[in-house]
Amino acid sequence: MECRIGVISGDGIGPEIIAEAKKVLNKIGEKYGHTFCYQDILMGGCSIDAYKVPLTDEAVAAAKASDAVLMGSIGGNTQTSPWYRLPPELRPEAGLLKLRKSLNLFANLRPAYLYEELKEACPLRENIVEGGFDMMIMRELTGGLYFGARKTEEIDGVVTAVDTLTYNENEIRRIAKRGFDIALKRRKKVTSVDKANVLDSSRLWRKIVEETAADYPDVTYEHMLVDNCAMQLVKNPKQFDVILTENMFGDILSDEASMITGSIGMLPSASLNDTKFGLYEPSGGSAPDIAGKGIANPIATILSAAMLLRYSFDLDAEADAVDAAVRQVLKDGYRTVDIMPQSGADGVTQVGTSEMGDLICERIQ
Ligand code: IPM
Ligand code: MG
Repeated sequence: MECRIGVISGDGIGPEIIAEAKKVLNKIGEKYGHTFCYQDILMGGCSIDAYKVPLTDEAVAAAKASDAVLMGSIGGNTQTSPWYRLPPELRPEAGLLKLRKSLNLFANLRPAYLYEELKEACPLRENIVEGGFDMMIMRELTGGLYFGARKTEEIDGVVTAVDTLTYNENEIRRIAKRGFDIALKRRKKVTSVDKANVLDSSRLWRKIVEETAADYPDVTYEHMLVDNCAMQLVKNPKQFDVILTENMFGDILSDEASMITGSIGMLPSASLNDTKFGLYEPSGGSAPDIAGKGIANPIATILSAAMLLRYSFDLDAEADAVDAAVRQVLKDGYRTVDIMPQSGADGVTQVGTSEMGDLICERIQ
C-alpha cells in the first residue's frame, strides 16, 4: 500500500518525537511491504517565523491532499516566547484550531490506558488502579467555546471579555454517534459528560445523547456532571469505558486522564472527520523546557502513528505490531525520564528519545 502522510513536526519537542514515529512507520513499511511518502507541512511557531501566520492556506491544502497527517506538537513558552505577543489569531494554537476546523475534524479520540509496567509512575494509590484501567475519551473538537465568537471590549469604562459556547443538535448528534459506535467495539458503556445543571448547551447535549442512545440498545450509558467526572477519574478510573464530551470539558479531562496513566508522554490521539482522513498527534504539548535535549518521550507519537495505520488505512495488524512493540519495550524495562519510577527499581534502564525509538523498532514483528 502507498500512503501519503502529511507531517507537521511543529515546535519544541515536535521534531524529535516525529523523527521516532517516522522511524517506526518506516520499519513497518519494510516488514509489511508498504510505502510511506511524507510531505512536511509547517504549522505553529515555525510557520509564524517563516510566513508570519501559524498556518498558511497552502499548508491546509497540503494537509487536505494527504491521506492522513501525523503531527508532533506546536507552540512555545507562553510567558517568554515572542509568538505570544502576537494577536491571538496569529499565535501557534490558532493554526491547530484552523486546521481542525478546515478539515472538519470533529471527533477526537484520546485513549487512556494504564500499562501494567507503568503502575509505578501512576500517581494514584495502588488499590485504586489495581487491575488497570482502559478508557477512551471522545472529545468534540470543532464546536463549543473554542470556536464561538469572542471579544474583549471596554463597557462603561470596564474591560470585559466574552466567549460564546454554542452547539447545535447536529454537531452533538454526530459526535454522540461516534461515541456509541466506538463503545460497541469496546466494553459497551458510554459516560456522557456535561454540566446540565447549569448550561443550556449541556441540556441540549444530554437530550441528543439520550435520543442517540435509543439506537444503541446494546450500549449502556449514563450522564455525569463534569465536576463529578473530574473527581471520579482519580477516585475510580476503572468505571469508565467511553467518555463522551464537548470540546473544553474534553480538553481538561483528557489531560487529567493522561496524568493518571503515568505521563502525558504516553497518550496518543486521533482527530477524525466523516472520511478516512485523520490528524494524529500526541496529547501532550511542545514541552519547550526540554526541547532539544533528546529526553522527550516519543511513545505517544509512536502510538499516534499506530492509530493512523488503524483508522486511516485499516492496517490493523500493523497497528497491533506497533502497540505490541511499545508494550514489549516497557516490559523489557526501558523508560524515558518522565516514566522512570521515583524510587529506583531493579531492571529499569533510562533511555533518551532516539534510543527509545530504536528499541521499539527492534521489537516490531
Ligand atoms: C489539545 C491542546 C489544544 C486544545 C490547544 C493547543 C489549542 O490543548 O489538543 O488538547 O486545547 O485543543
Ligand atoms: Mg489540551
